[in-house]
Amino acid sequence: MTTRYRVEYALKTHRRDQFIEWTKALLAVPFVLYSQPHGVFEDPDSSVDTLSQTREEAHRRYSEIFRDIEAMIDDHIAHQNNAENPFPSKLKLLVPGIGPFFTRLPLEAAFKFQDNKRHISSRRFVSPSFNDIRLILNSAQIMAVTTYGTLQLATFDGDVTLYDDGQSLEPTSPVIPRLLDLLRKNVKIGIVTAAGYTTADRYYARLHGLLDAMANSADLTPSQKQSLVVMGGEANYLFEFDSSSPDLLTLVPRSRWLTPEMDKWEDKDITDLLDVAESTLGDCIKTLNLPATLMRKDRAVGIIPVSPEIRIPRESLEETVLLVQKALELSPVGRSRRVPFCAFNGGRDVFVDIGDKSWGVTVCQRWFSQKEPSGPQGIIKAENTLHVGDQFLSAGANDFRARSVGTTAWIASPAETVELLDELAELMGKKMS
Ligand code: IMP
Ligand code: MG
Repeated sequence: MTTRYRVEYALKTHRRDQFIEWTKALLAVPFVLYSQPHGVFEDPDSSVDTLSQTREEAHRRYSEIFRDIEAMIDDHIAHQNNAENPFPSKLKLLVPGIGPFFTRLPLEAAFKFQDNKRHISSRRFVSPSFNDIRLILNSAQIMAVTTYGTLQLATFDGDVTLYDDGQSLEPTSPVIPRLLDLLRKNVKIGIVTAAGYTTADRYYARLHGLLDAMANSADLTPSQKQSLVVMGGEANYLFEFDSSSPDLLTLVPRSRWLTPEMDKWEDKDITDLLDVAESTLGDCIKTLNLPATLMRKDRAVGIIPVSPEIRIPRESLEETVLLVQKALELSPVGRSRRVPFCAFNGGRDVFVDIGDKSWGVTVCQRWFSQKEPSGPQGIIKAENTLHVGDQFLSAGANDFRARSVGTTAWIASPAETVELLDELAELMGKKMS
């Protein structure tokens, strides 16, 4: 039984997004009832009509389902905003893992937009997929963030979001002109990455394409150039753009940006936490015979492959994350909950960082408002913030944590980030005109 439980928990729960799976199941019904796979074998003269009828019917049914989910989210938001109502929303009962929503989501419009691009309703053999739904949710979120309010802060994960895993933002990257365009539109940008380095040169090495393009840009104003920060190690090192520095970034002392809660994190607790993580990671290397070495840093500890060409099996990385997470949760310092941490599978490595991206994004929200008293009043709010990242499956996914402080978009590659930024630019352009 115990083993069965472990298999169910470890291999299923954390690898599924409940809300997306639930939506997928709802869409599977009209797919099965209306997709008409036999249409392919029909009389060629009549098949054109059958095809377009099927498409229209499937489109109508899928749209209705998205409209119904949209209404359920509205009801969920009404529950969330009414502290006196002790009852859960219908959505919460159906999808217990659902979190808070900072904006409503125009899902029907987003479905129509993505259907036009991906021809979901025209498919007869492949039902609406996880990726179809993920992209519809992204479109709905950026429609919401630009239509019901104004986007003030966009934060981006690094690896897989801005550049391929372990690579750098090269000058030819198509992401760069799109990020410059956001700055031109007075949107603040935070690069909120787990990659934790204490010096600017290391970030310059990863981000030089963007930083050089900003330094050489003639049309960005000095204040727009000041609108980019790098938040490294999840929430541990803040760097500002600085054209006078050789690395184009300057480290901002913690005293200038730590939130009052973060200021209470004691060095002793941080060391204790990292000690527990280090010893558990060391045990994992031995018991799983991992081709990995330990890397201890000032605010993180991880395991990385012994050489760049070696890949640690995915299962071993996941086992390590789940083990170290449990060990930390059960340790005295973990149980005290005085210092938050984030253990995650980085694709090729596993890291445990002090803090997580919810703190990293919060620091960006506060930083830009405190720097510019005439700018956004107070702290930039969750509904005016969009975090773009690739890691959103609940256990050991570092971008997932950003969901508690802002709206999010879940991408699967830098190419998808480019598409998302194009959609965003079009919506912002429409709003301005
Ligand atoms: P992200 O996708 O930008 O959040 O970067 C995650 C990756 O950064 C990890 O998979 C690691 O390869 C790398 N990395 C380098 N230093 C650190 C660190 O101190 N903590 C966590 N990840 C790190
Ligand atoms: Mg990433």
